[in-house]
Amino acid sequence: MEISACVTDDDYDAWRRVRIAVLPGERAQTVAEMRAQDSPERLLLLARVDGTVVASGLADRSDSGGGFAAPRVVPEHRRRGIGSALLERLAGHVAEFGVTELRGMVEDPGSLAFAERFGFAEVDRQVEQVRALGAEPEPGGLPDGVTVITLDQQPDLWAASYEGFGQEVLADFAVFEPLVISAEEWASSWAGEPMFLALHEGEVIGCAGVHLDTDRPERGENALTGVRRDWRGRGIASHLKRLTLHWAAEQGLSELYTWTQAGNASMLRLNEHLGYVIGQTSITVSRPLPL
Ligand SMILES: CC(C)(COP(=O)(O)OP(=O)(O)OC[C@H]1O[C@@H](n2cnc3c(N)ncnc32)[C@H](O)[C@@H]1OP(=O)(O)O)[C@@H](O)C(=O)NCCC(=O)NCCS
Repeated sequence: MEISACVTDDDYDAWRRVRIAVLPGERAQTVAEMRAQDSPERLLLLARVDGTVVASGLADRSDSGGGFAAPRVVPEHRRRGIGSALLERLAGHVAEFGVTELRGMVEDPGSLAFAERFGFAEVDRQVEQVRALGAEPEPGGLPDGVTVITLDQQPDLWAASYEGFGQEVLADFAVFEPLVISAEEWASSWAGEPMFLALHEGEVIGCAGVHLDTDRPERGENALTGVRRDWRGRGIASHLKRLTLHWAAEQGLSELYTWTQAGNASMLRLNEHLGYVIGQTSITVSRPLPL
């Protein structure tokens, strides 16, 4: 078995093939989206057996502080030590940038057993909610003075919305530790296509959108839904989210899905109210570094 870092676009494509094989229900970023996240701290690995890619690894800073590691092994090559070898390389890389905690995410009992074997323990959970699309009427009834546009009509608005709107919405995620998202990360990877923006006096006060899945065009993932604190409780989130359902149905999609923190009661309830049903659970695990 050989482990090497991803360098070429073909390596990145092989990496995302493993991601798709291991997590078939979740949209994988395109190579271009992956490239946009390249940084000196981000490490992508491939593991090959007899020249064939059988596993991948990702190490980076975690959105919740600390480091993040994701070893992923295709099902037919598990229980042969490949996950352990990857985890050791990833943890070593993360330890180099001076963080003291290592985080990972698991979605099945075997992967949880692997994580526990390495001393990780659960610190948080995310819940998937899935919405089958039918005839989705265009919503009406926004509060006076509020208009909705799509981000492509005023592309500069997204980066500008980080101060105030973005930071407030990110601070209200129900995560075990506050999210650490820079203005650059917000601008480069948090908006969907389309992204619906609710505006009041020229400022963003709400957002919802869709990330299309080039591998499974019949499905889409909801992008961030958020409403500024002083505008909550007035139907803006459900209006924006219904717009995403309407748009996705018009595009011929049959399903939207979304991931929400298990402790985010208002978002879970809103989705349930809009007809989403519970899907998978993802457990965030953590352990001190070094491994
Ligand atoms: C988790 C994962 C990477 C493990 O890869 P792997 O190559 O099968 O792991 P290893 O062979 O190195 O396993 C090391 C030890 O972990 C434990 N373990 C791994 N898989 C297990 C399972 N399905 N059930 C119980 N224990 C398991 C065992 O103690 C194993 O040692 P053993 O085989 O000698 O008993 C793989 O299952 C996977 O890709 N899962 C989906 C992605 C994921 O959740 N990754 C994040 C992990 S933090």
